[in-house]
Amino acid sequence: METKKLRIGALISGGGTNLQAVIDSCSSGKLEGRVVFTGSDNPLAKGLDRAEKAGIPTFVADYGKISADFDANPDSVDMPSRNIIDRTLEKQSLYAVPVTPRDKTRLLKKIAAEHQLLSAIRTFQFDLLILAGFMRTLTPYFIDEINDDPHLPRIMNIHPALLPAFPGTDGYGDTFRYGCKVGGCTVHFVDYGEDTGPIIGQKVYSILPEDTLDSVKAKGLKLEWQLYPACISMFANKRLKVVEAVYTQGRKTFTRKIVEIRPIGDTS
Ligand code: GRF
Repeated sequence: METKKLRIGALISGGGTNLQAVIDSCSSGKLEGRVVFTGSDNPLAKGLDRAEKAGIPTFVADYGKISADFDANPDSVDMPSRNIIDRTLEKQSLYAVPVTPRDKTRLLKKIAAEHQLLSAIRTFQFDLLILAGFMRTLTPYFIDEINDDPHLPRIMNIHPALLPAFPGTDGYGDTFRYGCKVGGCTVHFVDYGEDTGPIIGQKVYSILPEDTLDSVKAKGLKLEWQLYPACISMFANKRLKVVEAVYTQGRKTFTRKIVEIRPIGDTS
């Protein structure tokens, strides 16, 4: 019996080498899935060509243009309901630092861009959304529209550092400049924070005295291309579950949010 293939949606901002690795793993059969759409915040993203070459539908929500339109006239930009906006601002400020008036405008623009992104995404049926070099953080509005099961989030991200070290946009640069002896990459589910969600998998490489920033990036990317399809494959095979694990040490009790990975073949 043929198992149902995982329908993967992808969001990218740039070159799309991770997207390519996922497309290739799907075509070789290593990954029981198919990429059903590729969206971008950037009309010039090279990765869009990769998707088109593979016959995958693409779309763009041009964040730069939406932000400029908002600056020119906020009323000209399509937004979700007032209620959704208020709840999003509230959730964001509960989770992160308090939202200042300047942050508020930035958030409103992001919500507007996500509104456009979501209206394109909603035209597809998909099981998992992967961020493959999508250089934007997502607001609770977007995340809550995609996620419906707290034990199985549906948005994954790949990050170019060993989280929780070096979140942000320059993981390889930060790792190299800090003088680390090892670097790595991380695949995690996305939550409201920046690169803070539960970790699914990590891979590590050594940093040697002769390494340069370019060689470090090359080592890391090579591992990303293996790690991302492997983590998506575990999702496809229903091996992942996010659990709150209570851990006691002496008199202290901690709660850890971890991704449980079921062994292959365990269907219990
Ligand atoms: C990768 O290093 C990824 O970890 C990070 O952005 C980069 C994207 O590269 N989030 P590519 O577009 O997949 O080539």
